[in-house]
Amino acid sequence: MTDKTHLVDEITGHRRMRRNRKADWSRRLVQENRLTVDDLIWPIFLVDGTNIVEPIPAMPGVNRLSVDKAVEAARQAADLGIPALATFPNVDLSLRDETGSEALNRNNLINRATEAIKQAVPNIGVITDVALDPFTSHGHDGILRDGIIVNDETVDAICRAAVTQADAGADIIAPSDMMDGRIGAIRHALDAAGHQDVGIMAYATKFASAHYGPYREAISTAGLLKGDKKTYYIDPANGTEALREAALDVEEGADSLMVKPGLPYLDICWRIKEAFGLPVYAYQVSGEYTMVKAAAANGWIDEERVMMEQLLCFKRAGCDGILTYFALEVAKRLAKG
Ligand code: PBG
Repeated sequence: MTDKTHLVDEITGHRRMRRNRKADWSRRLVQENRLTVDDLIWPIFLVDGTNIVEPIPAMPGVNRLSVDKAVEAARQAADLGIPALATFPNVDLSLRDETGSEALNRNNLINRATEAIKQAVPNIGVITDVALDPFTSHGHDGILRDGIIVNDETVDAICRAAVTQADAGADIIAPSDMMDGRIGAIRHALDAAGHQDVGIMAYATKFASAHYGPYREAISTAGLLKGDKKTYYIDPANGTEALREAALDVEEGADSLMVKPGLPYLDICWRIKEAFGLPVYAYQVSGEYTMVKAAAANGWIDEERVMMEQLLCFKRAGCDGILTYFALEVAKRLAKG
């Protein structure tokens, strides 16, 4: 032993964290969290038509899919073991109006996709987003009256939309609008319609984030949206308020809670998991995905390693799963072992 190591031992005693890290076998043995295919929810974008796979420029590697192609994607995901899809419609502009009335149409794009997917691939979970923004001519998540997003009228519309989604076969309804009281109201509406087994994944803490930009390109709301969503989404500065939001959703009957966006909000994931013990999901949103893709395209980061690390970190932060546009790539990567 040299004098130098002797000195280190005097300071640290016999505590040496590196002993457990010394070999691959030992690192595997002490690894606390693991990402598996069971943690993945794959958000996909829908578009009218058949045989359409339309690239979204703001989201490299992500396409808008016609219903037949969405069914193929569902089959591919199920074969890889991905538990669930989350669907988002790019609604034809001619079908959008002030109140988002197309959301209430039992045969709208999102419901036709659910029906087709559940029929062809019954073993994959279908999670439908219930919000008015894909259907409104102004891109807001609610009904706009005199410059104000009116809460209760919006909740009423969302409840009716949720029932059509459940009628079409959705397994889980995920309201992303942040209106007050919507979770309890949707629970009542689903139960009254005989859909006791349809779950609710609450977008419990959805922040007024700048990370949604590419998504708004994907569903063509970017050019429509007037103003911002600060009167209904949570201020990114507020953690305690986010917890209060989650508490209300738990009281109102949410089956699971979502945090959105993901990576900048890991503290919220952790606090919510600790506080309620319900399943918690993070949504790694479009802007987060695009940042990784853009940096990788420039050769500045190793895309695969960053992707895997970020998703693993959601697990460490207490998440039970992650909604991620990387889901298919990750599932393929995990299948390789
Ligand atoms: C709105 C909604 C948003 C996303 C999904 N549903 C946010 C918004 O446009 O304000 C964002 C998803 C993403 O960025 O990946 N109901």
